[in-house]
Amino acid sequence: MSVSRRTVLATAAGTAAAFGTSTPAASAVGERTPASTLRTLRAAADYAVEKVRTVAPSVTAFPAETRFEKWVYSQDGGWVGGFWPGTLWMAWLHSKEEAFRTWALASAEKLAPRRYDTSTHDLGFLFCPSWVTAWRLTGDDAWRTGAVRAADSLIQRYNPRGHFIRAWGALSDQQNAGRVIIDTMMNLDLLAFASKQTGDPKYLDIAVEHAKTAQRVFPRPDGSTPHVFDFDPDTGAPIGPNTVQGYSPTSCWSRGQAWGIYGFTTMYRRTGDPEFLATARGLADFAVAALTPDHVPVWDYRAPQQPHDIKDASAGAIMACGLLDLSAATGRTSYREVALRLLTALSETCLTKNSARADAVVARCTRNRPAESGIEVSLPYADYYLLEGILRVLQPQDVDRAIDLSTV
Ligand code: GLY
Repeated sequence: MSVSRRTVLATAAGTAAAFGTSTPAASAVGERTPASTLRTLRAAADYAVEKVRTVAPSVTAFPAETRFEKWVYSQDGGWVGGFWPGTLWMAWLHSKEEAFRTWALASAEKLAPRRYDTSTHDLGFLFCPSWVTAWRLTGDDAWRTGAVRAADSLIQRYNPRGHFIRAWGALSDQQNAGRVIIDTMMNLDLLAFASKQTGDPKYLDIAVEHAKTAQRVFPRPDGSTPHVFDFDPDTGAPIGPNTVQGYSPTSCWSRGQAWGIYGFTTMYRRTGDPEFLATARGLADFAVAALTPDHVPVWDYRAPQQPHDIKDASAGAIMACGLLDLSAATGRTSYREVALRLLTALSETCLTKNSARADAVVARCTRNRPAESGIEVSLPYADYYLLEGILRVLQPQDVDRAIDLSTV
């Protein structure tokens, strides 16, 4: 019996598990947060809620990035469509204002066609902060079954010869058929969710297979990772590391590293496999050592001008969330302390506070440096993960209700 099958049988209790029965991982470490840090984080969360409240009535589709401080939209959600409803859910948890819930549901609804989309691996990014959270917070079963349907689409992308989920391109397209990226680690929780909800281990089994492959090919001995690893899609044979959004195949794109920290920790929480935890720790230890004193990650930890290079605040927000989980999973308070420093740095040095014009909450993010596209802009995932991270500290029980912080 595989680890994932045991896990599914142990957790197949189904929908009731969503409400109030799990232990938030964030409360597993006997954390004490300095009062000054709590004040800073509360002020940042209040600012975020105020900004989102102001901007939401004019948001027409899914914010993708800013140009001259104004949101540019994706009509179908691209890979980012989960973050706007996710941000609205977090704003609702913090403010309890009904308008955020109404906006979150309306925005999530617009993702409905994407649950049949087999042309991308990004279905976890799309459906976890939006539909899974909608189900967990409303109990309306349509969100749950829709998210499971999206998981059905995602598993079509599994290559059984190479034991990986293909990242990019339509299934009929040979180009990129063997391309695996570190970001996919964040899409696996949708599969864990689907197995838990259906009692069918096939989704989590694929997630575990992919994670084991990623664990084998991405981490270097020092804990850094490349963005991409290529395989021969026909034989499944490994070809080698590569990059698209990082500086080079031997560099370490900071957002990718953050996806890896968060994603491997999540896979540990969903399976109990200590090797996933060890991998998450290796990645985290590298990234923590690579941080500059300002605690705003440089876009690539091995960019030629680093540490004096362009920043990516989104990497800091994602990493903070992963480190909070990792601290709870390992019992090591040092990870939590770094997470608090990251969230504090974002709150003190990266908010759009001095601009009445800005649509977003967080500035100083970089989407794709090699393509020279989206340099030091705002990105919807920075806003989402900053709020998720801050609320993990201020309101862990609420965040657990929204995204399931439990460990099996
Ligand atoms: N998952 C794509 C990105 O992080 O830019």
